Amino acid sequence: MKFKFPVHLLLMKLIPASVAVHQVKNYHVSTLAEASPVLSFAGPSAIKVPFTSYIDQKRIFDRPGNSATPSEASSSTQLVPSEQTTSSTSKPNVIPFADLNKRYQQYISGTLANSSRKCSAKNVRHRRSWAKLSDDDRKSYLNSVHCLHNGISSKFTQVPGAKFRADDLTTHHIISGGIYVFTGFMLPFHRWMIQVYEDMLRDECDYKGAIPFWDFSEHTGDITKDPIFSGNSTSMGGNGAPVPRGHGWVELDYLSGKKSVPPGSGGSCLFNPPFRTITYEGGVTSWDAISFRDRCLTRDLNTWAGQLLNIAHVEYDLSCTNIGCLQERLNGAQPGYPYLLNLMNSVRFSVGGLQLDPFAAPTDPIYYLAAANIDRLWAIWQAQEPNVRVNQTGGTHRPMGMGGAVKPSDIMIMLTPGTLRPVSDFSSTIDGTLCYCYE
Ligand SMILES: *[C@@H]1O[C@H](CO)[C@@H](O)[C@H](O)[C@H]1NC(C)=O
Ligand SMILES: *[C@@H]1O[C@H](CO)[C@@H](O)[C@H](O)[C@H]1NC(C)=O
Ligand SMILES: *[C@@H]1O[C@H](CO)[C@@H](O)[C@H](O)[C@H]1NC(C)=O
Repeated sequence: MKFKFPVHLLLMKLIPASVAVHQVKNYHVSTLAEASPVLSFAGPSAIKVPFTSYIDQKRIFDRPGNSATPSEASSSTQLVPSEQTTSSTSKPNVIPFADLNKRYQQYISGTLANSSRKCSAKNVRHRRSWAKLSDDDRKSYLNSVHCLHNGISSKFTQVPGAKFRADDLTTHHIISGGIYVFTGFMLPFHRWMIQVYEDMLRDECDYKGAIPFWDFSEHTGDITKDPIFSGNSTSMGGNGAPVPRGHGWVELDYLSGKKSVPPGSGGSCLFNPPFRTITYEGGVTSWDAISFRDRCLTRDLNTWAGQLLNIAHVEYDLSCTNIGCLQERLNGAQPGYPYLLNLMNSVRFSVGGLQLDPFAAPTDPIYYLAAANIDRLWAIWQAQEPNVRVNQTGGTHRPMGMGGAVKPSDIMIMLTPGTLRPVSDFSSTIDGTLCYCYE
């Protein structure tokens, strides 16, 4: 389709023209069918993004009744792949998460005790776990989320698909996805994006707190039982309604890796509060996307994938001693990299539905709470050796190790509110323009 969107020109300045054109030409994402979001990736217009998607879903198995079990799925119940724990090149120095977090809390409180700092204990925003919020706090968060996702209008008048204000950030995520995923920008870019979302909630929707995080490692025994998805009026919504007759397995196939993921237990629209279909519509979808599509919010809570979010997996990732390693483990895409279901992909599969749309995923408000948890893990990792790790950058400008190395002075763009800022602005959560911590 013809793609006319002025801001795209800005992006052209930041990435080689050949890459940008390539993305526009090759990016076809099929419509998310309301009843069966996973299957909607199959067919002639299935996702064709060679290296810009989190997950290149080449093929979907449609197995009514799921009688046949792809062999890899059944063998991959191992929660940290054996290639990693036994690899002679990696020397895991795994520290219990509680100890890592303790050190992080000490670093934060020690640093912020200095009241002459611009960011100190006096003004720092505390991001808290959803599980620890009172119902009143949850209500005020949810009210502001409704305002942003389903109340105030988009400011991107030139994007037909952007209906509500939250769609503006989703649009940006769609447009810039190829630049900020699988690259050295991944962590700082998302740190920025979450901050913009939090600021929108506060400045435009009267929210008084900080964005909560979803500590997704708390209920890995069965993610469908995580209270955050209880589906009552103070939850982040429930599971999607079950798809009649099931919807088959998804085969992940990128580079040298292959994995089959069994279906979850939902798949269709959310009918429970607070994001029930009737009042909740997500507009903007990926590329063909920039046009409007009424659709419901879909989820497919996946017990199998949820187990991959266990704390051993998190500890394994955090045992990295440099940022390149950490980014690879969180969202790796190196050729030959064994960890197809890395932590970020595992989050996407655990929630399923719209989260499997690599770029339009922020339509679902749970996206930001999961992203905040990834940001928290990065902050905790940084605090273990702040003098070395806070200002460290790693990875490259383009996916798969292409382009030059990302430097602190490299410029990133945020279309909402329309600013350019260096990577170094997002190195620390308590320096420069940022001032928040995780409880
Ligand atoms: C406290 O912060 C100020 C301003 O950043 C700095 O100049 C000073 O050295 C800090 N004091 C200590 C004890 O770290
Ligand atoms: C919703 O469920 C959660 C988890 O069980 C609980 O903490 C919360 O109080 C419930 N909210 C309401 C309004 O009942
Ligand atoms: C990171 O670099 C900035 C300057 O760009 C400096 O002000 C800050 O102290 C550094 N942070 C750490 C923890 O070294």
